[in-house]
Amino acid sequence: MWARSSSTLCWSGLVWATASKPYTSPIRLALARVAGRITVDNFWVSIPTSFAQICADRHSTRGFLSQAVPTEVLEQLLITARMAPSGANLQPGTFTQVKGSVREELSADLVRAWRAGEAEVEDYDYFPKPMPMTLRKRQVAAAQALYGALGVPREDRQGRDAQFERNFRFFDAPVALVITLEHGFGSGGYMDLGMALYGFMLAAQTHGLSTCAIGAMASYPTRIREHLALTPNSVVVCGMALGYADPDAPVNQTRTERCTLNEYFRVVG
Ligand SMILES: Cc1cc2nc3c(=O)[nH]c(=O)nc-3n(C[C@H](O)[C@H](O)[C@H](O)COP(=O)(O)O)c2cc1C
Repeated sequence: MWARSSSTLCWSGLVWATASKPYTSPIRLALARVAGRITVDNFWVSIPTSFAQICADRHSTRGFLSQAVPTEVLEQLLITARMAPSGANLQPGTFTQVKGSVREELSADLVRAWRAGEAEVEDYDYFPKPMPMTLRKRQVAAAQALYGALGVPREDRQGRDAQFERNFRFFDAPVALVITLEHGFGSGGYMDLGMALYGFMLAAQTHGLSTCAIGAMASYPTRIREHLALTPNSVVVCGMALGYADPDAPVNQTRTERCTLNEYFRVVG
């Protein structure tokens, strides 16, 4: 995905000149798209063009450059995400961007609570209880991919905790979002919101941006409601980190696998 290929050198001058402050004009973005690359702080960022490639390229990113995401880009991603279908077109869920001192205080509070081993009753259940062995194997493989990329061995509790704690700091991404569900929606509301979330992630990908959903945020719904001045009936679904991936962050080498087609597709009749 990341490249400084000499084959793009002739384009590079053009894109560099026109898109070194990417997305501030439609012309810059259009040129970057033609070239298939944009530059962010001298790094090449691929702009995938086919839908399958966009889906294949997206992966959870947990290390970001400090490069800011322009507000108009964030707004465009949210507008695109809202194209998702929803039952009766109810369009459930809210994205709250958390900035400045609110973000600092929220992260500090969550990290402190987590370090102290303080737990809250979560607003909703995520994982099956008990976890069937087939799913447990996938969970373990995902953890191995993450901690393997970081070079943190299984017995290194401190190393694992240090990475887990980063969830509560939105992985230091330039954009931090908290996603909530209001009005007492049932499971259908989560399904609808999930489609919007994936739309958001894929839209980000088409802008050379990267994301990580943060379910860990849902561990502290009461604290999050307080910090964000949310209504008591707001369900904290997850967080979202958004920004330009740091190509040098080992954690971004994490890659997960998918099960085979015959494990989730069957034909009857
Ligand atoms: C709703 C949701 C919540 C997630 N929560 C976390 C999280 O709290 N921390 C984390 O590091 N990754 C989190 N992830 C990322 C998953 O671990 C990741 O999507 C999965 O392992 C597949 O890898 P990929 O996204 O790189 O394809 C979450 C993903 C989703 C969709």
